[in-house]
Amino acid sequence: MNPLLHLDGVSVSIPIDGVPRPVISDLTLTIAPGEALGVVGESGSGKSMTARTVMGLLPHGHTVTGHVRFDGTDLYGPTAQGRTGRATTAAARRRIGMVFQDARAHLDPRQRIGDFLTETDRTAAARKAAVGMLDRVGIEDPPRRMRQFPHEMSGGMLQRVMIASVLLARPGLILADEPTTALDVTTQSEVVSLLDELRREEGTALVFITHDLDLAATFCDRVAVLYAGCLQEVREADALVHAPLHPYTRGLLAARPAPDSRAPRLPVVPGRPLSAFEAPPGCAFATRCAHTVDRCRRDRPALTARQDGFVRCDRLADIPAAPASRQVTR
Ligand SMILES: Nc1ncnc2c1ncn2[C@@H]1O[C@H](COP(=O)(O)OP(=O)(O)O)[C@@H](O)[C@H]1O
Ligand SMILES: [Mg+2]
Repeated sequence: MNPLLHLDGVSVSIPIDGVPRPVISDLTLTIAPGEALGVVGESGSGKSMTARTVMGLLPHGHTVTGHVRFDGTDLYGPTAQGRTGRATTAAARRRIGMVFQDARAHLDPRQRIGDFLTETDRTAAARKAAVGMLDRVGIEDPPRRMRQFPHEMSGGMLQRVMIASVLLARPGLILADEPTTALDVTTQSEVVSLLDELRREEGTALVFITHDLDLAATFCDRVAVLYAGCLQEVREADALVHAPLHPYTRGLLAARPAPDSRAPRLPVVPGRPLSAFEAPPGCAFATRCAHTVDRCRRDRPALTARQDGFVRCDRLADIPAAPASRQVTR
């Protein structure tokens, strides 16, 4: 099947303190129609920049090389320039919905929920659809909520409103960037379950960005692990969690607290995560990896095909198999 979204050798630079700096390097990823792909990695690994690249929300002064194709439209290709090209890419992007971490920050505090949900279509039919969608996302008494302002609703409820607004546009793809990080734990799982249920009903593809590998593996078909703006491993979710290959993925998994333990979360991987522009020329993870040899510092490993995905590590043949990890419940 043709991918719905195809990032093909994508590198992105943005000005940081006035200097262009790489934030994504040579990223290749595909998402099939209806598929859920988790994107995980520590803070600064380029997860949000990946979503912003797809959405066309990069800061002023950015450069993008490689191809970002959505349903056949190259969002940054030579044809994306000019009036017709811009109209085509804008039309393609209208079929991509984005759910951000902090719903409140993306809502106008002076706008009623109903006006927000019917912003692009003020008809009675659109209003009826909005009420119906609020009901579907589990909001009680939708007609009353339609008249309310964001400050009258909790963070969890606003995130449901955001999900409703995205689904009303009937997107082919939803990008959810840490959609539950700002919520308490119970609300978190309710909101992720809801997003998962609705997008399955609608056949919508999902890119679920999170720093929580277990959460990604629970809800996604495949999981991509980013480090320093660079894809380290992308595999089927179960395989990745039960038999991780890349030392960085292994480190992320080893740092999880046991489900029955009250012990605090261990530090993720020794050392500080690096951004793409701080990464060494060889393997981006070489400065923190227990298996680094000279070759790792010198040459950037290629992304190599495995049975169920791709891994970027030249030391796999030499390092012991990962210990069996805990079961992830679906
Ligand atoms: N608006 C911005 N201006 C300058 N640098 C940014 C901005 N947003 C992110 N960055 C930098 O880009 C890199 C990738 O960040 P980001 O994609 O936000 O990471 P993640 O979402 O994985 O935590 C980091 O080095 C971060 O410091
Ligand atoms: Mg982010």
